[in-house]
Amino acid sequence: MGRKLIIKMCSKYFPLLLFTILISSCDIYEKTSSNPRDIEFKVDSLMNLMTLQEKIGQTIMYSGDWSITGPIITTENKKFIKEGNMGAMLNVYTVEGTKKLQKIAVEETRLGIPLLFGYDVIHGFKTIFPINLGLAASWDIDDIQNGARIAAEEASSAGVHWTFAPMLDVSRDPRWGRVSESAGEDVFLTSEISKAYVRGFQGEDLSKDNTILACAKHFVGYGAAQAGRDYHTVNMSIDELRNVYMPPFEAAVDEGVETFMTAFNEINGIPATANQFIFQDILRNEWGFKGFVVTDYTAINELIAHGFAYDEKHAAELSIKAGVDQDMMSGAYRHYLEDLVNEGVIDKKLIDDACKRILTAKFKLGLFDDPYKYCDITREKETINKPEFLNAARISAAKSSVLLKNSGMALPLNKKQTIALIGPLAKDEKNIIGNWAAAGDRSGAAVSIYDGIKEFLPSKKILYTKGCDIDSDDTSRFTEAIKIAQKSDKIVLVLGEDYHMSGEAASRTNIKLPGQQSELIKLIRKQFPEKEMILVLMNGRPLDLSEEASIVDSILEVWYPGTSGGLGVADILFGKYNPSGKLPITFPRNIGQVPLYYNMKNTGRPISIDNPKEDYKSNYIDSPNTPLYSFGHGLSYTKFDYSEITLSNTKIGFSDVLEASVIIKNTGKFDGHEIAQLYIRDKIGSITRPIKELKGFKKIFLKSGESKKVVFKISSDDLKFHNSKELIVEPGEFEIAITASSDFNFEKSFELR
Ligand code: NOJ
Repeated sequence: MGRKLIIKMCSKYFPLLLFTILISSCDIYEKTSSNPRDIEFKVDSLMNLMTLQEKIGQTIMYSGDWSITGPIITTENKKFIKEGNMGAMLNVYTVEGTKKLQKIAVEETRLGIPLLFGYDVIHGFKTIFPINLGLAASWDIDDIQNGARIAAEEASSAGVHWTFAPMLDVSRDPRWGRVSESAGEDVFLTSEISKAYVRGFQGEDLSKDNTILACAKHFVGYGAAQAGRDYHTVNMSIDELRNVYMPPFEAAVDEGVETFMTAFNEINGIPATANQFIFQDILRNEWGFKGFVVTDYTAINELIAHGFAYDEKHAAELSIKAGVDQDMMSGAYRHYLEDLVNEGVIDKKLIDDACKRILTAKFKLGLFDDPYKYCDITREKETINKPEFLNAARISAAKSSVLLKNSGMALPLNKKQTIALIGPLAKDEKNIIGNWAAAGDRSGAAVSIYDGIKEFLPSKKILYTKGCDIDSDDTSRFTEAIKIAQKSDKIVLVLGEDYHMSGEAASRTNIKLPGQQSELIKLIRKQFPEKEMILVLMNGRPLDLSEEASIVDSILEVWYPGTSGGLGVADILFGKYNPSGKLPITFPRNIGQVPLYYNMKNTGRPISIDNPKEDYKSNYIDSPNTPLYSFGHGLSYTKFDYSEITLSNTKIGFSDVLEASVIIKNTGKFDGHEIAQLYIRDKIGSITRPIKELKGFKKIFLKSGESKKVVFKISSDDLKFHNSKELIVEPGEFEIAITASSDFNFEKSFELR
């Protein structure tokens, strides 16, 4: 940072002498150490030099613009930056683009405060990994962390300082399009994954040029939008909020996440973006979060439509009072914060606090040492899409795939056989990277399933036809599909949803396969009742597969597997990688069961397993209560046998540790990974407790014939829950199991006393 230049600019406003003394005594622009006290000192010193308007400037974020060739600087944005009315920008990347914008901030504003560039790096940056729901299906914490690390390497090399990820909304409604961005329905799994993303994005030292700020979003309750309709109302007890929806966010705070994003929804009548209870009382006061909070896109002026603010000025007042530091796109802070202070409606300290938190993040990143540290064009070229990154994405795609059904071992495929590869997603290179692959390349960079299969089979053994569209009534290609099915040994159908059908603003009331895809399956089965049919599914949510599951032999859920997706999926199809994914979310039998999740409450009239249709019990008259595929379900090409659970004790005290173990044996012919899941039920509580709760999991590798002991240690901390305002653990009986999925009945218990 040119100190001379800064002195020159500042001298327009302050007596030169005074400013020079100040700046040399506080060393703002000397190299920043990572010591929090040094950073605080520098931030305070800088803030002493700032006008109210400059401080407000730090709280403002606008989007950059793009032409076909890359980022462009609009006159308006240039003006905002020059006036000091921009603290951060979103939707800009590339070294070239960010450098130009940064130059304006650094060289053409009075204090030369660098901009912060945020971007939606959700499941990869250029090397796109499977969608987040898919990654969660791997239950592979190291792999998820590694994927986030790679994303940070790539994004940071392209000028990005900050990702709007991880998305930590516990999601239990497959109608909601954003389940695809989540880690699914479970609080424990989402919390473990939350920490992995934060570690991966932020690394160990934020001042390094390959680390980026993470952002825990959307705080809070967004996943519980009524009827699965995006942005819809959330109404729930504080206990449920604390026991289910908040823990993944608290885990992110514990892991040192630097930023938070507000949710679009209201919670019990108060929109999240103006919610003092969640941001002040819980996030800051209770959890001790020190970073800054950004709104979601235009969420401040949406307070008016919520019926919570009279106008934009009122909305700005409500948000800043709630502790929301930065305004993404609404303009309300830019337009009104200064007036609100001058009119005495808000305390100037609120602006100081917000500005301080934002500047602290910039200091932590080292942007005051070198605002162009993320702008190295050679690094950008060398980093994006590195072969080892693409290979890591291939491994993640394989690990994320879930084998839902495999009758008669229709999978793995045999390299000697000819396959009919049919379906609108078989040769697809656009949908395969899924939604929220913002910087991802949809025009040929990804490996399709067809191309992946070519690594294992010569082209002449792959008979391909599209068969039908994803979502149209056109059945004209059915005849061709029948023709190639006739000539093949096995039929592989690659079907699913268009990538636009999940993600933000993509809720569905019908969660069946769209268009004519199911009809295609039925027709092929009718023509070839004996031929093995394998369904490979690409989709961003649990689908109602009741019909398809009764027709096909195998179902492999591959979600949207990403840039190297075709390769990872082919690895599974041909048995190079033995499937190990387990569902992070329940697949219902039909839409009427939704929301359906494994850890519901028991009710006063639970059904009995032996007589599930009994009258006046909590059931349906037209559907079983059970899902089609349970949370935690996922098959392998081998077989794992679990011994009975062994407990180190049947009674434990509050400070004891209980050891629970099983022996797992691979009794099949393939080597493979298994994910052993620990579930506990708190039988009686001062508020009712779920019928099962995941409390641990371990992914182990077993060679064919091999056995291993899997041990979990349980302490009273693991048994805590929120009851009104308190986090408590209550004595009593707890049931316990270590199993291969959530679909089981408890057989053992212990007592806490
Ligand atoms: C709106 C989305 O809700 C949020 O997740 C995203 O980070 C922002 N837009 C910025 O793109």
